[in-house]
Amino acid sequence: MKFILTKDYDDMSRKAANVIGAQMILKNNSVLGLATGSTPIGTYKCLAERNAAGDLDFSQITSVNLDEYRGLPHENDQSYYYFMHDNLFSKVNIDCNNTYVPDGTIADAEEACSKYEEIIAATGGVDLQLLGLGHNGHIGFNEPADVFPKLTHCVDLTESTIQANARFFASKEEVPTQAYTMGIQTIMNAKKILVVVSGSDKAAIVKKAFFGDITPQVPASILQLHPDVTIVGDAEAFAEIKDMI
Ligand code: F6R
Repeated sequence: MKFILTKDYDDMSRKAANVIGAQMILKNNSVLGLATGSTPIGTYKCLAERNAAGDLDFSQITSVNLDEYRGLPHENDQSYYYFMHDNLFSKVNIDCNNTYVPDGTIADAEEACSKYEEIIAATGGVDLQLLGLGHNGHIGFNEPADVFPKLTHCVDLTESTIQANARFFASKEEVPTQAYTMGIQTIMNAKKILVVVSGSDKAAIVKKAFFGDITPQVPASILQLHPDVTIVGDAEAFAEIKDMI
C-alpha cells in the first residue's frame, strides 16, 4: 500500500485528482469506479477544473459508481445519481450514456444488483476505483459483518451510517434505510484502488483499517490484500499512522 501524506483537504484533493488524471492520460478510455460522500467533492472539483483547462479529457471515459440508496429517484437531490451529476458529470465532457450508478428505483433488489454486475462486466472491468472510508471501516455500503459480502447486493444500513448521513436530509426519518452497493469482491476486482481520507475523525479508523487485522468487521481492511492501493490522506487523517508510513 502506498500512503501519500498531504497538508490538508485541498492538498489531498489535488493529489487525488493527480492520480486519477494520470490514469486518464495513460489510458484515455479508462473505466473509473467513483464514490460519493463529502471526501471526494474537492477531488471532483479539481478534475472539473482540469477538464475546463483542457488538461483532462473525459470524452472516452466510462464510470461506474459504488452505491445508491434503494428507493430514491434520480431527481431526489440526496440520490447518488444526483450527486454525481451535480459534482462531476455536468461539469466535464463525459458522455452521460457511459456513466452508471446502481439504479435505486428498481424495486426488485436481486434484479437491480445482478443487472449492475452485468453492467460492470460489460465495461471490461474497473481500471481505477476511488473510495472514501466510513467511520466504522465501511467501503461502499459494505458495513461491518461476519463475512465479506462478495458482489453487488442490497444492504440494511447501520445506525451509525444512518446517523452520519442524516446531516444531508431534513430529518433522520427521511434517510433511506437500505442501499444497493458493489460488494467487496466487486471492489477488489478493480486494477487500482485510490482511497481518500481527510480529518481527525478518520484517524482511528485509518490505523485500524490499514494496520489492523484483516476482518469483515472492518471491511476496508481487505484492501491490505489488494496489490495496488494508494491512500491519499491529510495530516489529520494520518495522525495515528504518521510514524508507520
Ligand atoms: C460513498 C460511499 C461511502 C463513503 C463513506 C465516507 O459512495 O460509498 O462508503 O465513501 O461513507 O464518506 P465521507 O467521504 O462523507 O466521509
